[in-house]
Formats: sequence, C-alpha cells, structure tokens
Amino acid sequence: MDIQTELTPLIHILRKTSRVTVLTGAGISAESGIPTFRGEEGLWKTYRAEELATLAAFIRNPKLVWEWYDWRRGIIGSKEYNAGHEVLSRWEKLFPTFHVITQNIDGLHQKAGSRNILELHGNIWKLRCTKEETVIEDHSTPLNEFPPHCLDCGALLRPHVVWFGESLDASILQSAFALSSSCEVMFVVGTSAVVQPAASLPIAAANAGATVVEVNPDPTPLTPYVDYSFRGKAGEILPVIDGKLSFSNPDEEK
Ligand code: APR
Repeated sequence: MDIQTELTPLIHILRKTSRVTVLTGAGISAESGIPTFRGEEGLWKTYRAEELATLAAFIRNPKLVWEWYDWRRGIIGSKEYNAGHEVLSRWEKLFPTFHVITQNIDGLHQKAGSRNILELHGNIWKLRCTKEETVIEDHSTPLNEFPPHCLDCGALLRPHVVWFGESLDASILQSAFALSSSCEVMFVVGTSAVVQPAASLPIAAANAGATVVEVNPDPTPLTPYVDYSFRGKAGEILPVIDGKLSFSNPDEEK
C-alpha cells in the first residue's frame, strides 16, 4: 500500500490529537552523517562497547575513552540537523502537548529548535565531575586536555552520558514513562528498539491506548505491536506526513 493511502487514516487521527510524544534513536541522525550503532557501518560493528562505553573501561583507561568521545564530538560537531529533526521542531508548535524523548546524545534536536526534549542517555557536549557530580557544557573539539579534569576540584571529568550497565536518571525515566502513557499518538523514529528501558516506552504508550507510529527503513522487534510502520528514512517520511498534515482540509473531518 503506498504511503499516501496508508497516511490518510493517520492524518485523521493527528488532526484530532493534542498530545503527541516522539521517541527517537540514532536513525534520525543518520541522514546528518552521524553513524548509527547497529547499522552496517554502525559504531558497534567497528568498536567494542565494553572497551569504550562502560564505567569499567573508563576506570581502566580514561584517556582512551576520552579520545573516542572526542572523535565522536568532532564528527557530531561538524554535522547539521536534517529534515526529520526540523519537522519535529515544527510540530512542537503545532500540537498543544508535544515532547521528544531521545536516546541520542548528539544535541541535534536542540540545534533544530526543539525545546521539549528528554535526553535518556545524556549529552556528548556535557562533562560530569567524577567527584562532585557537577555537569558543565563544553563544545570545544578537540578537547584541550586528555583526560579532562574538573576546574573546581581537579578530579577526572567523564562524559555526561549513560554507559552500558549504568542506570538512567530516575526522574528523566519517570517523566519519559509518564509522557509515553499519557500521549494519544507516539512516533517511534530511527531506533532498533532493542535497548532497554527505552524500548519499553512505545509498549507503555500502546498499553495506554495510544496510536503508535514507527518510522524506520527496516522492521524492528516493535513492528508487530505498532499501528503504523512506515518503511523509509526519517528525513523523507516525516516531511511527507507533515506535508499531508499541513495541506489536508480539516473540513474533511466533520
Ligand atoms: N531514518 C530512520 N531510521 C533509520 C535511518 C533513517 N535515515 N537509518 C537507519 N535507521 C534505523 C535502523 O534501521 C535501526 O533500526 O535506525 C535504527 C538505529 O538503531 P541503533 O543503531 O541500534 O540505534 P538506537 O536504537 O538509537 O540505539 C539505542 O543503544 O548503543 C546504545 O546508547 C546507545 O542510544 C543508543 C542505544
């Protein structure tokens, strides 16, 4: 079934919707040139997560971990948000209640103008003191010092991101589940839906009666549970939905 036909019932629903939540993953930033994790040239195909994205790896070799994050900061810092990020930032003004819950640490949603953002896995532009837990924002690439140290107490700084085996911030996670189980429509864009607890958010939305819409070039473990699953890239599909939403005649609904 072509997307235009598939879209018509969804547009009807969206026209009547006031509460929308979006869960995004690395796929939404793929068209900006940022590698995903598990795709063909995904980061975890080339690098061993246990050597670079765990607390044990950081304790073992903070310089190596910071060199890797600095390399990623260099890539991310040179990239721009794409049409997918743009549509979501526009929808924040279109829908009365609209939030983006992202697994991404690249800050591209904010760069595109989104403000209602929950960052589940932290942010690569933020550094945290391993002693005082204070968080600073630093966009310098390359970093001035490897590994960087806290200017206040001299302790090591670590990336303010959630590593494998670490818990997410409890209040952020609680808000994420609240936004998922109180929305009328949830979009799930560019995630392989294999990493928990993020992958449970769309299920919470579906269980609470929301319409769940997946956007991904490939099927995921979530696909059997969603109402709509559009096969394609976020930077292509979201503008099509936005276009149809903007130009469809609201009188049709009456
Ligand atoms: N548009 C939409 N989806 C895309 C696109 C695109 N242009 N390109 C790829 N995808 C899809 C892939 O098909 C895949 O399902 O995006 C998904 C990316 O999956 P992952 O690489 O597993 O990334 P993500 O789901 O965000 O990973 C979750 O795992 O490694 C940890 O902390 C890291 O936040 C990350 C978490």
